This record gives sequence, C-alpha cells and structure tokens, in this order.
Amino acid sequence: MAESLQFRNCMCLLAFYLFSLITVQRVEGLEAKNHFLEWEVKHAYKSPDCFKKLAITINGKSPGPTIYAQQGDTVVVNLTNSLPTENVALHWHGIRQIGTPWSDGTEGVTQCPIMPGDNFTYTFVVDRAGTYLYHAHYGLQISAGLYGFIIVSVPDRVREPFVYQQDESIILKDWYHNSTYEQATGLSSIPFSWVEEPQSLLINGRGRFNCSLLNESPTSDSNICNERNPECYDRYSLNVHYGEAFRLRIGSLTSLSALSFEIEGHNMTVVEADGNYVEPFETKNLYINSGETYSVLVKADQDSSRNYWITTNVVSREPSTPTGLAIFNYYPNPPDKDPPTVPTTGPLWNDTASQLAQSRAIKAHHDFVHKPPLISDRVIVLLSTQNLIDGYYRWSLNNRSLVLPHTPYLIALKENFTDAFDQNPPPDSYDIHNYDIFSAPGPDNVNATSSNAIYRISFNTTVDIILQNANTMTPNHSETHPWHMHGHDFWVLGYGMNKFDKEKDPATYNLKDPIMKNTVPLYPYGWTALRFQADNPGVWIFHCHIEPHLFMGMGIVFEAGVEMVGTLPTSIMGCGETKRLIRP
Ligand code: C2O
Ligand code: CU
Repeated sequence: MAESLQFRNCMCLLAFYLFSLITVQRVEGLEAKNHFLEWEVKHAYKSPDCFKKLAITINGKSPGPTIYAQQGDTVVVNLTNSLPTENVALHWHGIRQIGTPWSDGTEGVTQCPIMPGDNFTYTFVVDRAGTYLYHAHYGLQISAGLYGFIIVSVPDRVREPFVYQQDESIILKDWYHNSTYEQATGLSSIPFSWVEEPQSLLINGRGRFNCSLLNESPTSDSNICNERNPECYDRYSLNVHYGEAFRLRIGSLTSLSALSFEIEGHNMTVVEADGNYVEPFETKNLYINSGETYSVLVKADQDSSRNYWITTNVVSREPSTPTGLAIFNYYPNPPDKDPPTVPTTGPLWNDTASQLAQSRAIKAHHDFVHKPPLISDRVIVLLSTQNLIDGYYRWSLNNRSLVLPHTPYLIALKENFTDAFDQNPPPDSYDIHNYDIFSAPGPDNVNATSSNAIYRISFNTTVDIILQNANTMTPNHSETHPWHMHGHDFWVLGYGMNKFDKEKDPATYNLKDPIMKNTVPLYPYGWTALRFQADNPGVWIFHCHIEPHLFMGMGIVFEAGVEMVGTLPTSIMGCGETKRLIRP
C-alpha cells in the first residue's frame, strides 16, 4: 500500500514536472514561473544568542531560507520531515491559498500532521506582491525556530508607488532557552506554568545573551553558552551607502512578544503592511506584532563616518528581555563595528496610546484603496477571556476554548464526517449587557468550555468581526493580542477602548480608506473591528498569533463555500477518521 502511494506521489510529481516544462502559463501577458524547493525539516544544535539549544531547522537553517518569487508564480515546497520523533506542518502566512485550501499547512484544520519520515508537497500560487511569512502550525514549533520570509515582487514593468535602490529584510524573533516540550507541558498542566518572557530577541536569527547570567554549576559545560561563538558574536549588519534610499521589509514571528523596532538617528516611512500598500507616514519607531509584516523606506542621510544601532524592544508586556541589537553600517566603516552610542531601550512598554495611534495611522495608499462593502451581512462579536476550564488555564472566545479535532475540518466537512466535531455552531456574541470586561473572571466562572465547534459562513457574504478584550484572571490586567486570519485579508474598520457599543461605535468606522491586513492587534480593554468577504472556499482558522495563547485555545475556525472546494489530495489525510479514505 505504502509503495503504491509512493508510486502515485511520484507519478503526480512527474506529471506536474512535465506539465511545468511544456506549458507556459501566461498571467497578464507575463510568464509565471514555478519554484521547486526541497526542504528538509530537522533538528540541529544552534546558538543564535550564544546559548546552545536544539532548534528545528529547514535544511539546517533557522530562520529558514527566504522564498523569493514574483507575483503569479507557483511555489512548490517538497517538505521532508526528518524530525525523528515529531510531527510537523508548515503554514504560508499571508498567502490566501485561493483554490488550494489544502496547502494552508494548518494541522487539524486543513491537513493531518506530516509524520516523521514522511514527505508532503505544498503547492500554491503567490498571487500578490508583498512581504509574507511562513512558520510551523503544529504545537509550539515556531518557538523552536521553524520560521522564515516569503518575498513576492511585482510583475515585470509594474511600478510600486515608491522608489528605492536596495531591498533588505529583517525578521524578528523572541527566543527561549527551554524546549517547546517544557513549554507545552507547563501550559497544559495543573499547576499551570507560564512560558514567561523570552531570554533574547533575535534580528535575522542573531542575538547575544549575557552568559554570566546563567547559574553556573560545577558540572556546567562552557559550550552551552559561549559569547565568543561566531554564530551569535557576529551581529547582523545592514550595509548602506550614504545617500541611498532603501526598502526594509520587517516581519515578526515572535512566540509572545510585541516589539518596537527602530534605527538610531533615522526615521522610517511606512509603505506596506501585510502585503498592502500604505498611505506613507513617517515614524521614529515601528510597533510590530507577531504575524505582522511592514515595509519601510529609509534614507541613509546621516553622518556616515560611524555606524548606528538597529534595536528592537519588548512592548505591551513588562519586559525582562534585553534589547535586540544589529548594526546599521555606513560604507566603508567596518560592518561589525559597534556604534559609539548607548542603544535605546525603546518606548515605554505600556504606552498603549502611542501603539493605538500608530495602528490608526495605517491606512490604504490612496491609489490602492479597495473599498469595503458599506454594510455587512453578519456581525460576530468575540469576547476574549482567560478562564479556568476543569482547573486548566485556557483562553476562550464567547466562552468557547478551541481544541482542534483529530480529523481535520476540511476533510471532515468535504466527506461529511458529522461526528468528527461538534456540529452546533458557537455563539455570535456574548452576554454584552451583563459581562463586566473590567473584572477578572473568578474561578467560579463555569461558563467556559472546550469546544471544536466552528462558524459556518454563507459564501461570499460580508462579515464583521468585533474583537472584544477584557480583564484576564489577574485583577486590573488585560493583554494585547495580535489576531491573524487565514485565507483572507480583512479591512480594519477601527479600534476603540472599553466595551464595543453596537449602536454608536460603527459610526466611527473608516469605510473610506481602511487598510487591509491579515494580522491586527487587539489592545488591552479595547475592541478592534474588522470586515471581510467570505469569498475563499475552504476552512480557515482565525486566531491570536501569540503561540502559547493559540495553544491555550485562543482561536476560532470558520467555513465558507466548502462545497466548492475541489477534490482533496490524499496527502493531507492519514489521521483520525480520514484513515478510512486512504486505506479502504
Ligand atoms: Cu501565522 Cu495561523 O498563523
Ligand atoms: Cu493572545
């Protein structure tokens, strides 16, 4: 059986290869290319911040290789899982997977996990220029280092609404010294053990941890933390020539931290957000949440006789992680020469007002406005709460804490496996009149339950989602959550503080030039209003991009137009009830 499956895979690949050789696909008169990538996911010892740790790599690298493609191209990633004892799934963050919902890479939603020793081929079209990401969508594997960039350029002869001489990219990551297994066990145990703040911030995979902070025991091995290891000792250095303007793509795939990013002495002009052009605005520091990408333009116009710090700092949570550092190097200064100044520790971590102001400043570029429909067909208000469920710490939306089923939804829905998950939809709202978003839900709150129920959305309808924040289980405490939607971009209609008022607040929506994004912050005690068109057939997850929060249930799943999805590839099957589809 296994052999015949392999044979079939082989024939499919061969057919695909021949197809790509003999056809010239034309998209708006331009040739679309196919990119065939062979990726091996495996463990490797890495010391990105001088501390040696087992990381999950792609072809030995963390961050993994950047995928460079052009709008309209097809990307084919043949992934081999060489982790000896662990499943994997890889998600293409910001790629809408139009027509290929089975390539979304979301374990439990669009596919079974890829087992050790197996391969899986992801095939998808990058249909829009911009800056995107990829990362693991299984367990806590982002925190093990399974992440990278997807950079999609505009078609030949298409001009972007800004000019630059150089195209650079920086991916930001928070880094933990303990393993994903320790983290996962702590999060799902009684007593609960939180992951706490990260040890380091990495810029393009590099940081420097102060090894003297480790409690040295007599048996400790100096190889565990070595500040002279070139893997961490060499800071990332961005090399520029005086007078040039460059585009800097910045992406964050932190597990937990919201960040502020800045280049000493140089303002940045924000021009792109999550693959959409922004009406340009200037800022000294850029706030960036996990799952967001931005492009900024920077002019190398300062005193070029020295280097400058590139810094990133934790915001939104009280930081205990040192500033992440890289070097902004003016040619011909030595690229590794530390600047003469003391690096900034960034803005005040709890200055929510300035974060909110920046979020509000992000609007669609005037030549690239996609107007949202003026009214929506359905409004879903999602209250985020932290709850105890059977003694476990969980996050819930309208009192439902997401637990993924063993049979991925996409397959269960296509095949009508009605016993694969709870068929009763979760509620479209919460008890708005009685729920106090300013008080901590007590241990006596027995309303929250674990659930694998999903929202069914009529195809092509317009849906508003109002994210409503609330107090956590700690008195006087509410957190920031970056929310990310698969398969769609949404319009960001507005942000507000306190409880969303459905009579008054919609009047404040920006319906004129709202930015479209795939990831958006929800601020403490506030609300964020989104609108999207359910025009992409499939099953999609919408969740907090803080990895431990998703692990603790902070997400919802919705289906739209699943009946229009084409024949599912058998490669996504093999778990839960799908076993009977491939092993009759
Ligand atoms: Cu970048 Cu579901 O995530
Ligand atoms: Cu969260």
